[in-house]
Amino acid sequence: MFNDDGVENMSIQLFMPTFHVEECLVEIKECLERGWTGLGYKTVQFEDAWKQYTNLPHAHFINSATAGLHLAVKLLKETYHWEDGDEIISTPLTFISTNHAIAYENMRVVFADVDKYLCLDPKDIRRKITNKTKAVMFVGMGGNTGHYKDVVKLCKDHNLKLILDASHMSGTRLEGKIVGREADVVIYSFQAVKNLPTADSGMICFMDKKLDEKVRKYTWLGINKDTYSRTHNNGAYKWKYDVEYLGYKYHGNSIMASLGLVQLKYLDQDNAYRRQLANWYDEAFKYHKNLVGIVPVAKGCESSRHLYMIEVNNRDELLEALNKDDIYPGVHYRDNTEYAMYAYGKGTCPKAYMFSERVLSLPMHLKLTREDILHIANKVIQYASL
Ligand SMILES: Cc1ncc(COP(=O)(O)O)c(C=O)c1O
Repeated sequence: MFNDDGVENMSIQLFMPTFHVEECLVEIKECLERGWTGLGYKTVQFEDAWKQYTNLPHAHFINSATAGLHLAVKLLKETYHWEDGDEIISTPLTFISTNHAIAYENMRVVFADVDKYLCLDPKDIRRKITNKTKAVMFVGMGGNTGHYKDVVKLCKDHNLKLILDASHMSGTRLEGKIVGREADVVIYSFQAVKNLPTADSGMICFMDKKLDEKVRKYTWLGINKDTYSRTHNNGAYKWKYDVEYLGYKYHGNSIMASLGLVQLKYLDQDNAYRRQLANWYDEAFKYHKNLVGIVPVAKGCESSRHLYMIEVNNRDELLEALNKDDIYPGVHYRDNTEYAMYAYGKGTCPKAYMFSERVLSLPMHLKLTREDILHIANKVIQYASL
């Protein structure tokens, strides 16, 4: 890899965000000149742009996907009168936010196993349904849709709510359409290394208008009017708002939304380049299937390609060897039932455990070139065994 001054920089990181710096600065400058960096203004513009892009009916900009996942569970629990100890089926192969969101609300995470796409396996979801099951939490691993359509059907058939953790899925399409409308709520992450990077932010998209209205209050401490509309309503600061709920400070701000507005314009183009990088990896590994297994993309899925994942016999050794060559892949993820908090689920998802010992995510970001991919792939082939 080469830096902007043309100096060769041999270190190859898993992720490295690319910002359209000048355009981002123009948007941010507008906020600074107007004297408005908080909730409202650019956050509203970004919500509108996101709805238009995704074709989802509602979108609320928040400070992280973690906050959004929490409120997704909370608002569904309140609305449908779920009780403490009721169950949500989720995956052990995810970032811990996914499962903490369920636990925050005193609900029980019931782990179901994954399929070859590393997404929840509908067959195992079915086995794990009890009379306490209220919802399924589906994670689109690395941008992959896995057996999403079957999961949607299963939820309908069993009258379960579907929460889609789309943290990796900004821009993912299934059969030509952005996924999401089939779920009850979709949560995106725009954290620093995601496909649509800001610094930290996210979006929560309920399909139900009432829940969208409610979540806006919940992300602003339960207050029933946002500061922007209070300040800009006839110039008078309307301090006599009401507080309807015990809410949180989870809303997004106009600086993050400025970055989001710019990065969104490039999302499809960026994801197309990520798919190109993935194709170069695929080609490089084509004749080495005895050494390197490739985690496949589901049929009909145009993945955002947040991740490119392989499977090998000697993952830890391979990781160490690559690090010595200044290549820094990642692991997505450690089986969550290996963590003390979720150890009660240990042994219930053997495939997830097996993958968590064998998978490796190779560098995947927009600064990589074909030469970089071939270099990484050659090193993987040199050290891998399957
Ligand atoms: C699958 C998954 N869910 C949730 C999150 C949490 O996202 P955020 O950092 O925006 O809270 C992440 C972030 O890494 C993630 O990968």
